[in-house]
Amino acid sequence: MTQPSSAHAAKVIAVTVAAAVGGFLFGFDSSVINGAVDSIQGDFGLSSFVTGFAVAIALLGCAVGAWFAGRLADRWGRRRVMMLGSVLFVVSSIGSGLAVGVPDLMLWRVLGGLGIGIASVIAPTYISEIAPARYRGALASLQQLAITLGIFAALLSDAILQNAAGGASNELWWNLEAWRWMFIVGVVPAVVYGVLALMIPESPRYLVGQDLDEEAAEILANVTGELRPNERVQEIKLTLRRESNASFGDIRGPVFGLQPLVWVGITMAIFQQFVGINAIFYYSTTLWKSVGFTENQSFTTSVITAVINVVMTFVAILFVDKLGRRPLLMTGSLGMFVSLLLAAIAFSQATGSGDDIELPAPWGALALVGANVFVIFFAATWGPIMWVMLGEMFPNRMRAVALGISTAANWIANFTVTLAFPPLTSTLGLWVLYGLFAFFALLSFFFVKARIPETKGMELEEMHS
Ligand code: GLC
Repeated sequence: MTQPSSAHAAKVIAVTVAAAVGGFLFGFDSSVINGAVDSIQGDFGLSSFVTGFAVAIALLGCAVGAWFAGRLADRWGRRRVMMLGSVLFVVSSIGSGLAVGVPDLMLWRVLGGLGIGIASVIAPTYISEIAPARYRGALASLQQLAITLGIFAALLSDAILQNAAGGASNELWWNLEAWRWMFIVGVVPAVVYGVLALMIPESPRYLVGQDLDEEAAEILANVTGELRPNERVQEIKLTLRRESNASFGDIRGPVFGLQPLVWVGITMAIFQQFVGINAIFYYSTTLWKSVGFTENQSFTTSVITAVINVVMTFVAILFVDKLGRRPLLMTGSLGMFVSLLLAAIAFSQATGSGDDIELPAPWGALALVGANVFVIFFAATWGPIMWVMLGEMFPNRMRAVALGISTAANWIANFTVTLAFPPLTSTLGLWVLYGLFAFFALLSFFFVKARIPETKGMELEEMHS
């Protein structure tokens, strides 16, 4: 039982926002490279393969960070792990900004990746543990909103810095090139995250796990306005006991060693990346420059795309509980298919080769429209809903493990696309890649139709494998 007081609601929201800053850092840190990548390639004289590797390597750090975050959070508590994430972000931002060569740049990016992985697991964990059930769904969607805001902030700050310097490779303050400052400003949100982590209360669920029942009850009463905090503590104890018996055994099954539903989660996570969303959020500036936009126009276009991404996330938040997950995902798949196909057709009209290609008049506009309509469909459907579904579709006994595996699959798929994009663009051409993305979008439609269960309005306890 909780007491619906607005003072408590405000506290819960404040605490949730603090945790969601982790999502902001996730978006910021992973896409800040967008505005810097061309200059890094030029300044360090990199091949397209090494460039792809330098961008993608942070994502491997993410997978590792996410893998350990859960376990660390159970040992050290949620807040200490958030602080670790904050320190990693600070170190990685400064290190990447001052990198002397590719090897140390990669090292700093991997450290940042560990931070992203940690933040991406801790934010939803902490939010769901502290938020009362009646607004858990809405609060959980804040994570994707925070990710999109982080992407937007990164691309905006990239654009401002390159504008101030008159080019991303030009020097700005203290003889450091603009691209270096793009990384260094990441220190600001990272420090905010660390300070907020110091200020918020520890998760009651963690405290109960440590047998600190009284402290847990106090936080429940103070933050969420729990009327019977001691009873709630006993309930948490029961579920913890049940969940601690969960293990890898619970996801084993007849289909290549796993339960069919676990494969559904993994496949969904892979599709979310194989439609090529991050080819836009990590490389859009390069993309628009390569088809003949000026550096300024390319940066501006990336910022506009990021705004569209933020705004359309609200559509998903508004409709996901009304229309259901399946219709939204299927609409998204078809919309992404058509728009990606249009972009592929436009890119096939490019003239020239290598980094020197041009898109003649109507095709440049079509590519631009195609790519942005694609982002509209993605942001309103697959972007947030994939995360919502992974959090809710598995039965309680296997949720943590199945969620961990599917999330890792999402990062590995992200890594693959990010790594392969630059070399494949220069060998096969942009239109082949966009054609492939379109193909995956179409496949994802049939996959949703045949395999994805509707979970709208169901209690977590009702999910079956
Ligand atoms: C989702 C994806 C992430 C992508 C973002 C774009 O969160 O999982 O990889 O960068 O959407 O908004």
